[in-house]
Amino acid sequence: MNDPKERQSENLPCSFVIFGATGDLASSKLLPALFHLEVATRLAENLTIVAFSRRDWTLDSWREHLRTMLADEAKDKLEGPVFEHFLARFRYQQGDLNDVESYRALAANLPTESACSRTVFYLAIKPADFTAVIQNLEAVKLNQPRGMSRVVIEKPFGEDLESAQVLNRLLHQYFDEEQVYRIDHFLGKETVQNLLVFRFANTLIEPLWNRNFIDHVQITVAESIGIEKRADYYDRAGALRDMLQNHLMQLMTVVAMEPPAALEADALRDEKVKVLRSIRPIAKRAIHAHAVRAQYAPGNIDGQAVVGYQQEENVEANSLTETFVAVKFYIDNWRWRGVPFYLRTGKRLAKQTSLIAIRFRHPPQQLFRETPLESIAPNWVLLSIQPEKSMRLEIHVKQPGLDMDTRVMQLNASFLKTDEQALDAYETLLLDVIEGDRSLFIRFDEVEWAWRVVDPILRCLVPRCAGVIYSQLSRDILWDRYCMEAPVRQRRCVERYNIVKRA
Ligand code: BG6
Repeated sequence: MNDPKERQSENLPCSFVIFGATGDLASSKLLPALFHLEVATRLAENLTIVAFSRRDWTLDSWREHLRTMLADEAKDKLEGPVFEHFLARFRYQQGDLNDVESYRALAANLPTESACSRTVFYLAIKPADFTAVIQNLEAVKLNQPRGMSRVVIEKPFGEDLESAQVLNRLLHQYFDEEQVYRIDHFLGKETVQNLLVFRFANTLIEPLWNRNFIDHVQITVAESIGIEKRADYYDRAGALRDMLQNHLMQLMTVVAMEPPAALEADALRDEKVKVLRSIRPIAKRAIHAHAVRAQYAPGNIDGQAVVGYQQEENVEANSLTETFVAVKFYIDNWRWRGVPFYLRTGKRLAKQTSLIAIRFRHPPQQLFRETPLESIAPNWVLLSIQPEKSMRLEIHVKQPGLDMDTRVMQLNASFLKTDEQALDAYETLLLDVIEGDRSLFIRFDEVEWAWRVVDPILRCLVPRCAGVIYSQLSRDILWDRYCMEAPVRQRRCVERYNIVKRA
């Protein structure tokens, strides 16, 4: 998905600066992804990586940290020339995100040929620090030359529509849109990209992909982990901002979009924006019938007691931040009018699974009336994003025998052959940033339209909520066939659910 013009600078030296290099995102995703790319010989020789952090470390202590950090997943690869080569790419810059002098020191620490090279600035930091970094980069002219530097911003982009617009205006003061890479790592996941191929490379599928044949769509990202050590960020964000406004809505756009004219950044993004613009706004009075949020209570996982959300370290004791959210959307266009899209996500749910489930309509002809088959179940297509990367088709076949009885047969196909391994989403996306391919990154109008839809929900569900939210919808989406365990206790406006994990 590369625009050749955007890749002109590909052979120039590149510096990849990670702000927040000792933080959670860098440790769990970015650095392992860069190392895997090194092992796969996908990193250009002239790539330098600069770790920027406030810790008072030397380059040697940083390298030690890197070794310890990668030990878990790449132990067998930490000896030998590949790892040595990886270590040799690094520079370490101690600094304070709010202090312009740290950026002067950073500029001086970049490779000397960098005046004519590309520089990527990855903001793996709290959203509250974005502004300082953007302004300080400009102050020392690290945003120049404009064609050469890129800035990568993690989601959530803003915390509502207004703050997203403010952040975007700030960015555009100092960076052109071509320099801005708004990352949503779900778009880098193999199955999500495969969805485009599944839909648009198979004549079998596309004619059925509309309201005439599809009854509803469920998009679920269920996690069994809690908030880990991210209370600082999570308690302000909650599941709506952390997952639904970005990851789940992006999945919905890929399921619902029209075929783009080409696999190019803007053609793809134009189609995604059309979907977001067609989402029916949810009227204030209808919000409780369309959305539900909940928070996890104490429970146990595999026999081990685990604390509830409010007892997590650094979470306020009375916090009402949601750790589960589910919303029903309608997309009012020719293809989808009348088809509900159920989006739901939560932490500490019964199992770890990300799934797009498409339920087809009942067959129109009651051929089997007054036989045991009268209430024949509809077909499903299940696209599993993780842990399996697979497609399952459920169809009916006749059971062998004299009676007219059916059973559901599952055609289950993994997207990977046994000896294949999917790339991690970050591996794909980091390479795209380095190479200047913006297809899988978010344009601001996508962010803006997603906030327009989510903002009223945030405003209505979050503050001053004295009543209890418990709607028909919550029962539907929590209890249906692909359900997670349901809320068991209600507390003010937040439903709480117990942590249950099946063996
Ligand atoms: C992140 C969220 O964007 O995505 C996390 O901030 C969440 O809260 C994570 O756990 C899930 O991503 P993945 O790729 O691990 O499923």
